Amino acid sequence: MKNPLIKELLALEPQGQEVHVQGWVRTKRELKNLVFIEVNDGSCFRSIQCTFDLNTPLDEPSREAIKEISTGAAVHIEGKLVPSPAEGQPLEVAGTRAVLVGPAPAESYPLQKKRHSFEFLREIAHLRARTNTFGAVARVRSRLAFAIHQFFQSRGFQYIHTPIITASDCEGAGAMFQVTTLDLEGLARSGKPVDYTKDFFGKPSYLTVSGQLEAETYATALSRVYTFGPTFRAENSNTTRHLAEFWMVEPEVAFAHLEDDMELAEEFLKELFTVALTDCREDLEFFDSRIQNGIIRTLEQVVQSRFTHMTYTDAIRELEKKADRFEFKPSWGCDLQSEHEKYLTEEVAHGPVIVTDYPKEIKAFYMKLNDDGKTVRAMDVLVPRLGEIIGGSEREERLEVLERRILELGMKLEDYWWYLDLRRFGTVPHAGFGLGFERLILYVTGMTNIRDVIPYPRAVGQADF
Ligand code: 4AD
Ligand code: MG
Repeated sequence: MKNPLIKELLALEPQGQEVHVQGWVRTKRELKNLVFIEVNDGSCFRSIQCTFDLNTPLDEPSREAIKEISTGAAVHIEGKLVPSPAEGQPLEVAGTRAVLVGPAPAESYPLQKKRHSFEFLREIAHLRARTNTFGAVARVRSRLAFAIHQFFQSRGFQYIHTPIITASDCEGAGAMFQVTTLDLEGLARSGKPVDYTKDFFGKPSYLTVSGQLEAETYATALSRVYTFGPTFRAENSNTTRHLAEFWMVEPEVAFAHLEDDMELAEEFLKELFTVALTDCREDLEFFDSRIQNGIIRTLEQVVQSRFTHMTYTDAIRELEKKADRFEFKPSWGCDLQSEHEKYLTEEVAHGPVIVTDYPKEIKAFYMKLNDDGKTVRAMDVLVPRLGEIIGGSEREERLEVLERRILELGMKLEDYWWYLDLRRFGTVPHAGFGLGFERLILYVTGMTNIRDVIPYPRAVGQADF
């Protein structure tokens, strides 16, 4: 790349050297003969100030360009990197040449220099990456995605690409998007029943809700694996924490038990928070001052602390003490509601909590049954503000127990023949979990709506762009 990024320019010692700046104009201000142009290229949070003194010799095209440059325009500016007299910035560019690469007419460009609501910005999601907030979210996402690979790769995990299209329902929750090439309108007109042998895959197929089952097949061959990819849920939940399309990270480890799984989850989250604190410092400082006061301190504290562990039964006992304050009355057997998760993290533990050993009825079929016959070796990591950020478990590795559970749930053994084979041939205790990547980004940035931490959110009634 010939031209440096603004991030690289800002790291230089200003010594009057010739530099080129390329990016999009955030603001232009004029003061007598001086014109100040703030240029941002998204490489880092900060913009670079380019100053033109109209009393110095400038060629005519540059003068013309300076006149026409406005917020949102793409520009190419040449000048000298000099120490800045202005406060809060060590350097600036003393401009000698300006080119208006792509104008952004002020009458129609929607992102003028004022605060826009996140709701409004969602409607112009194709432009919102040009704002401070969405630029910062994108950089944190990118860095943490890379950190996820670094974390696992440095610990001997192999990255597995699990399928997006599948015929099996991992979570057994039935919230799947169907994939079909059948002519739906033609079928509706004909009034005939659907013949899936005529469908593309010869049977009903769906977008995956999780790569776990396939990851298990590789964990029982390569020992430590992880998947990191898009997953899909057709849940009709219109909340600030649910998306129809989200990215999930799923490690799976052979010869591992629930305790190992919890240990891995805690180490993993702390490492990701540490990376954010060190490598995304500028962006986090912005989130701390403008979005969620104290987020840096919180992350630092979490990295230092031990996560609280609690069984589901103890969690319910804790909640029952304060039963009056909840809309959903807690009782053994009920799923934890977000108000319950909030209370446990924010008021009991004052930090992340790992809840284990949930009733089997509210968890997926593949979780290992405890000796009590009622609970399973599940673990959910809950965090303040958000609730569940990770869901995982030790897997049922005993063939008969797993078969019994599948039948109990009215599922068909033949649909899981390959999954059951793992228990027939060289079965081992194994465990894993799933981290919702967008929930992680919500937690780290302090943003409140999950639709604002993924470039193009897909949710009920929303698939634009
Ligand atoms: O708890 P879940 O459903 O677990 C699984 O899918 C397991 N197969 C994971 C495993 O053990 N390998 O989902 C895992 C995480 C949740 O804790 C949550 O962070 C996130 O995925 N998640 C969602 N994120 C955004 N939108 C949704 N609709 C989500 N559903 C789950
Ligand atoms: Mg879950």
